[in-house]
Amino acid sequence: MTFSTFKSANKLITGQDALDYLTQALAKFNIQNPLIVTDQGVVSSGTIQHVLDLLPVSYSIYDAVKPEPELEQVQDCINFYHEKQSDAIIAVGGGSVLDIAKCTAALASQEGDIRDFIGTDQIQDRRIALIVIPTTSGTGSEVTNIAILSDAAKQMKQGIVSDYLLPDVAIVSPLMSVSCPASVTAASGVDALVHAIEAYISVNHSDITDAMALQAIELIVEYLPQAYALPSNLIAREKMATASLMAGLAFGNAGVGAVHALAYPLGGKYKMAHGVSNALMLPFVLQWNLLGCAERLSKIAQLLNLAEGNQHMANAEKLVKFLHRFCQQLHIPPGLSSFGILESDLPALAAEAIKVERLLKNNPRKLTVKDIEAIYREAY
Ligand SMILES: NC(=O)c1ccc[n+]([C@@H]2O[C@H](COP(=O)([O-])OP(=O)(O)OC[C@H]3O[C@@H](n4cnc5c(N)ncnc54)[C@H](O)[C@@H]3O)[C@@H](O)[C@H]2O)c1
Ligand SMILES: [Fe+2]
Repeated sequence: MTFSTFKSANKLITGQDALDYLTQALAKFNIQNPLIVTDQGVVSSGTIQHVLDLLPVSYSIYDAVKPEPELEQVQDCINFYHEKQSDAIIAVGGGSVLDIAKCTAALASQEGDIRDFIGTDQIQDRRIALIVIPTTSGTGSEVTNIAILSDAAKQMKQGIVSDYLLPDVAIVSPLMSVSCPASVTAASGVDALVHAIEAYISVNHSDITDAMALQAIELIVEYLPQAYALPSNLIAREKMATASLMAGLAFGNAGVGAVHALAYPLGGKYKMAHGVSNALMLPFVLQWNLLGCAERLSKIAQLLNLAEGNQHMANAEKLVKFLHRFCQQLHIPPGLSSFGILESDLPALAAEAIKVERLLKNNPRKLTVKDIEAIYREAY
């Protein structure tokens, strides 16, 4: 049997007035006492107020989500949900908040420990309505069936994958990301770019995910520098919000590959922001992947007007160089050594990365643990 499936949040609301849909969503699900799941950055920047001002009902706020949160935070949020007798979840935040909110909505009505649900299709149901409003552009978590949480004991990021994590409604408004610090705009924007590129070269890509990925890549390359340069540029924010969503649709269905697999141990062990670890690995993994997907990388180079002639390998190499400069312009620190990682740590990192089989199996070139170590050395 050869077929592809395509999953998304049930309803996607985009555009400058997207937040206006929130009251309709509350009425549709008969929500009387929602729990707003968010974090300190979104609250202290005042951005949360865009949402609170629209709520015609009573609500509670759980604002304790930590960046790159740990698995245990889900139980804390579930306890709060029950304490406040909430009847739905509205997530307002970046990927960290959305992932905690998605797990809380799915698991608050079920028995079991969060660790029981690590892996694919371990969740059986979701009975709690889930509305998500991303404030970064971004992880695409608003449309994916994935939550990625830190496992402090194993010093790794763990994936929880289930269709019950797909939100009922994703409201994607450019107003929500205006207050992002520049470093968060840059890191989360590059994360979206990596999602689109890895989905496009994934062995599981389809014509549908290709269309999403290519459009996302074009938008991000044009508008991420603009959003970074002028945070209040609402057109750039809107294009980035849509691009991040499209990249989420692409990778949520085609999967990501070795860039993410090699980035996971960096996030788990060194607490590096997810977008930063991806940015560091991107050019080096793509350089390695050239043999497996030069033609597809060349297509991206053509889309970005980097290509000269029909030499796929040469064009693909131009793209790799371009991406290197692109991340530099966004002031993402280059090299693993800038983050205090010791060269002697690289074999242990490679031993962790090879375990991320869920993602490595999507990559267009096979990697051994020795290959991974060599890529880490290049990126050092
Ligand atoms: N579920 C998925 O599909 C998926 C995909 C990729 C990444 N992730 C996960 O998402 C997390 C990263 O998410 P992220 O990159 O969105 O960052 P984040 O949610 O960790 O936020 C980073 C920082 O920016 C602040 N912030 C966010 N929005 C803001 C705003 N509008 N104004 C002011 N401050 C703001 C936060 O308070 C936080 O301090 C990681 O844990 C990563 O593993 C999940
Ligand atoms: Fe990512």
